[in-house]
Amino acid sequence: MATKTTHVGIPWDGRTAYEKWVEDDLKLDLHRGYAATGLSKTPVRPWDARGINAAFFDIIGAESLAGMYVAELAPGKSSNPARQLCDEVIYVISGRGSATVETPTRTLSFEWGPRSLFAIPLNCKYRLHNGSGQEPVRYVSINTIPIVYNLFRDPKFLFECDWNFDRIAASAEPADAIVYQPDASHTRTAVDLHETMFVRDIYETQRTAFVERGAGRTVYLELANSVISAHVAENPGLHVNNPHRHGPSAFVFTLQGQGYTIMWRDGGDEVRYDWPQDDIGVVVPPNMWWHGHFFTGPKAMQLAVKLRSRKNPLNHLYDKSHKRVSEGGSVLRYSDLDPALRERIWGDYVAEVRRNGYEPNPPKG
Ligand SMILES: [Fe+2]
Repeated sequence: MATKTTHVGIPWDGRTAYEKWVEDDLKLDLHRGYAATGLSKTPVRPWDARGINAAFFDIIGAESLAGMYVAELAPGKSSNPARQLCDEVIYVISGRGSATVETPTRTLSFEWGPRSLFAIPLNCKYRLHNGSGQEPVRYVSINTIPIVYNLFRDPKFLFECDWNFDRIAASAEPADAIVYQPDASHTRTAVDLHETMFVRDIYETQRTAFVERGAGRTVYLELANSVISAHVAENPGLHVNNPHRHGPSAFVFTLQGQGYTIMWRDGGDEVRYDWPQDDIGVVVPPNMWWHGHFFTGPKAMQLAVKLRSRKNPLNHLYDKSHKRVSEGGSVLRYSDLDPALRERIWGDYVAEVRRNGYEPNPPKG
């Protein structure tokens, strides 16, 4: 925990109410930094109210808006019923089980497994059930607890409010998906945008190319009419994804593949994050910092879960992130980079790819 003093020397705890809740009330670990790695092995401790074990992460680039925790559900156990005045998206790292979600009109249930992604509709009471008597379930939650908690600072209000929000259609099944193709030419914006609540296996989603972001294939997911959306990006690797910048709280999970992310601000700090080879990691680019993903091996998979919804936008800090800077956007192609920076990061990248025994694809534009 952090205790500072004011300019006149009075002790002052500089933590947000959310940080105090995690560390002082829940007595759980709160990891801080630009990124986190080894998520499948992060030690977790009991979160008694939920009936799970958890560890929290306060990543700098989340700007105290969205939060993240890693959780484990013991073999044969169910989590305690929970409801919350915040949106939550869950990605299953390992294990199998089911979820029950009580909406105002009926109870939804669905079965999930490794690589499932699902959202809990706002303030719907839910439980997770481990379907195995032997194996624990491990999952990661991205949620809006921090922003809501810091505004109201009262767990009873956040977790015991009985207001029913009509966020999803009464007739909808969790896996139902509506597909939008906002840009048929696939050059300017998200393609194959799905609106759903549950994706059984994100690796099974159909992905399409999106010209401005380079060589990858992507699917975009709006989840449970929330303020959190996701995209799954499959990359052939051995290329650099065009650096870009946008608002805070975009959690990029590196699921598979070899490479690193560089994040920087004009004339300022630069941070490099190396993707773990045998585990899941996450990096959250700080607000409006440039960032690029550098693939130093073939084929990579990333999952981004972000406080960015096209349907329910919280701000406009993501609006230009699909357009090149020369067109008023915030995507940098190779030729848009400052020459000194370009030479350095491209030179380092090529050397690293060759050390891995590969030849990189030429930069784009
Ligand atoms: Fe980004």
